Amino acid sequence: MTQARMDLYASIHKGLRSFMADTLAAVGRMDTDDAAERDSTLAQLRALLELLERHARHEDEFIHPVLQARRPGTAGGCSAEHERQRGQLRALRRQADAVEAGSGEARAAAALDLYRQLALAIAENLTHMHEEETANNAVLWAECTDDELVQIHDRIVESVDAQEMAQVIRWMAPSLTPHERTALFGALQAKAPAEVFHRLLEVARPHLAPRDWNKLIFGIAAAPLAA
Ligand SMILES: [Fe+2]
Repeated sequence: MTQARMDLYASIHKGLRSFMADTLAAVGRMDTDDAAERDSTLAQLRALLELLERHARHEDEFIHPVLQARRPGTAGGCSAEHERQRGQLRALRRQADAVEAGSGEARAAAALDLYRQLALAIAENLTHMHEEETANNAVLWAECTDDELVQIHDRIVESVDAQEMAQVIRWMAPSLTPHERTALFGALQAKAPAEVFHRLLEVARPHLAPRDWNKLIFGIAAAPLAA
């Protein structure tokens, strides 16, 4: 049996796919006349756009230079797509502002426009992530050892602030298989301060089915937290 290689993309992309799908559905059903629902939906959308922007920046900063150095020319396509994504994210933020500023039928129409443009941006992003997980990984696996890939991964994690980490865990934890989830929290337990590890477990907990939570706790052999 071949040993699975260190995958820099798989887990975070699972989280982003869930976050994108959930947010698209929320924008689609948003009652634009309900201020509380509008505010919470647009806040979720803005959090998604921020995370997508940060994610692309991490890849530009930590992964693309390695691709470029080991096999020149292999990072250009993805970097250009990230630039295009930044433009789309700016446009989506403007559309969210327009929904907030509008009223009545104009606001409902602005929300439908936003929903459609978000769907198109997500469609492109899904294709883009597939390219990264196949073409970029093929280069990384041919040119780098797993130790080198772990170092890149750890440098990315070190650059992430507490708020972004909580956001990532909120979406990534429920999107992984039990095996992947256990590996994620096992690594956090080994590398992060105990209070950070416990805080992130609590971030994940409300979003995990009891079955998945039990598998996780059993898997990492951590004492169950207070109920
Ligand atoms: Fe990317």
